[in-house]
Amino acid sequence: MEKKQRENWGSRIGFIMAAAGSAVGLGNIWRFPYLAGENGGSAFILIYLGFVLVIGLSIMISEFAVGRRTELAAVGAYKKINKNWTFAGVLGVLSAFFIMGFYPVVGGWALAYVLKSVTGLLADAAAIGDTFGAFITSSIEPVIWMLIFLAMNIVIVAKGIAGGIEKAGKVLMPTLFVLLILIAARSVTLPGAGAGLDFLFKPDFSVVTGATFLAALGQAFFSLSLGMGCMITYGSYLNKSENLPQNALIVSVLDTGVALLAGIAIFPALFAFGMEPAVGAGLVFVVVPQIFAAMGGIGTLFSAIFFIALTVAALTSSVSLLEVVVAYLIDQRGWERKKSVYTAGGIMTVTGILSSLSMGLMSGFTILGVGIFDFFDILTDKIFLAIGGLLLAVFVGWFMDKQELEDELTNGGTIKFGLFNIWYNLVKYVIPVAIAIVAFAGITSIAQKPLMFFGLGIIAVLAIFSKKL
Ligand code: PHE
Repeated sequence: MEKKQRENWGSRIGFIMAAAGSAVGLGNIWRFPYLAGENGGSAFILIYLGFVLVIGLSIMISEFAVGRRTELAAVGAYKKINKNWTFAGVLGVLSAFFIMGFYPVVGGWALAYVLKSVTGLLADAAAIGDTFGAFITSSIEPVIWMLIFLAMNIVIVAKGIAGGIEKAGKVLMPTLFVLLILIAARSVTLPGAGAGLDFLFKPDFSVVTGATFLAALGQAFFSLSLGMGCMITYGSYLNKSENLPQNALIVSVLDTGVALLAGIAIFPALFAFGMEPAVGAGLVFVVVPQIFAAMGGIGTLFSAIFFIALTVAALTSSVSLLEVVVAYLIDQRGWERKKSVYTAGGIMTVTGILSSLSMGLMSGFTILGVGIFDFFDILTDKIFLAIGGLLLAVFVGWFMDKQELEDELTNGGTIKFGLFNIWYNLVKYVIPVAIAIVAFAGITSIAQKPLMFFGLGIIAVLAIFSKKL
């Protein structure tokens, strides 16, 4: 009998672009700067970089290995190797659903700002902050933009891997990179920009708590698209001749570079304008337009291009989230791609609308002390991804065969992975313990404890029913 050939990436660069496209997104440009701003700047950034290097990179290598070894998406991959672990894959699918509960809302904001850039947003620089607040708390406009953004995801993912996702990434990721460099160059040359560079690069450890570490860890997972099976799924489409550790390194460096670049674009300008670093989720949408407003006419054009690029960065990430859910329905439930996409997209439409409305109309409605948007955000970022990463590390370190892993990471001995033993021991011993400590310290010092325990409860329930999933 002929074995059905698994869909493959069209080319090597196509894979890197798609994986980097998944990693680079709102997490780098919207989230990283505002988290850094809220958590004291450089100390947070240093901890973040440490986590990326020691934990993120190793976990990414692990996810690629598990995916390519099994040629299956997250749930199937776990299940094939050990049935008791199916729940870890399902947790990933649930994380994808939850992230898609709020991500398209912000994607919609970015899209809306393309139009706003050319329709007078920049005319009154002093009003830019208020405009943002009024926009996201209104009931119709942001919902419509969110729906348009979600529809784009559905169209791309319905077309399948090489056709849609890969092409979108190839063209628009480089554009974003160039633009960020331009903005950063403008930002650091504004009068008074030095204070922003100090904020980014002179660490102040007096502001660090357990919650800072958890925020940095969660952000590392979120930004690198780890801990929820996304890179397992992408790895499952990867050619047998690719060098996995090298690909993981390239993707991590690109992702981290973009985040730092976003920081350098935003903070010097923020201090130059005399604003507060801890303004929260509106940071990019308020500071970047101000930088452009100060440039005169040409600023309008730059602003529009910036938000187009941000939208695309968001899109290449959100399609990977949708793909995790869709791959599960195709591989495990035997559904058609189209049916899977439309069903998952339909549910995400509902969660997206609720999330958007939680900024205004439904702001009084809370679950375990937080609004709907925050519910999805905090639950995934502060619990699910980190625990998902911990589970993956334990799984790879203790439930997979060491020889088999070495085989996979060296393509059957045809290429070198000199750090194999270091990687293996990190994954087996260091990372599980490190994540457990950070999660524990974070949960004890975070404000939203009921939500944290709720999240842990969900994971426990999934684990108990693992064999039935
Ligand atoms: N890494 C993406 C970003 O930084 C978000 C993401 C998380 C995508 C998890 C896929 C999986 O925006």
